[in-house]
Amino acid sequence: MNTAKVAAAKAAMNHIVDGTIIGVGTGSTANCLIDAIGESRLQLKGAVASSEATAQRLTAIGVDVMDLNSTGTLDLYIDGADEANRDLQLIKGGGGALTREKIVANASREFICIADESKQVDVLGSFPLPVEVIPMARSFVARELLKLGCDPEYREGGVTDNGNIILDCHGFEITSPEELEQAVNNIPGVVTVGLFALRPADRLIIGKDDGSTEIL
Ligand code: 5RP
Repeated sequence: MNTAKVAAAKAAMNHIVDGTIIGVGTGSTANCLIDAIGESRLQLKGAVASSEATAQRLTAIGVDVMDLNSTGTLDLYIDGADEANRDLQLIKGGGGALTREKIVANASREFICIADESKQVDVLGSFPLPVEVIPMARSFVARELLKLGCDPEYREGGVTDNGNIILDCHGFEITSPEELEQAVNNIPGVVTVGLFALRPADRLIIGKDDGSTEIL
């Protein structure tokens, strides 16, 4: 059990309204949230999952997993991150769920990011930036990413829930996150870049090793 991740997840519980449908992210911090929901008295109307793994966990605790096509705009999405800067712009996709995460984040009025303090950075990019790519475009997209100034690495065995592959981009120092997000998204064959700059988090709940939390 990671005290900091659990603390962030439990603090996020205060923002969930009983009887609503929420979006739930993917990863170990999001799993702490699912555990907390399971242990609580909260009766969600349902949840939209950002991955098959999250859908399975939600089902296991008795939450009705819903199709985003039937829910309309969600009030709240809660998810972790691999890096977060002061503007609450994020790198996500370490767990490979970046596309569905970005869809649900954009389909939600509020996006709360939960993370331990190791995820806070001044400049995004130390964590390799994941890019989900249509398989037949892999080599072309890799060459285009090289031109943007990074070193893309094929993620072995990293087939996404959407049947695509992931290129992890090393060496980016992301000083203009919105511009880079648009530039990568514009490469034909790219499905999604794991840079959440155009739709950053609205709040960031940082969990600490002593069990305390800070909200930014
Ligand atoms: C999955 C993600 C996760 O939010 C991110 O990788 C953080 O994971 P964790 O909570 O396990 O540190 O983007 O695609």
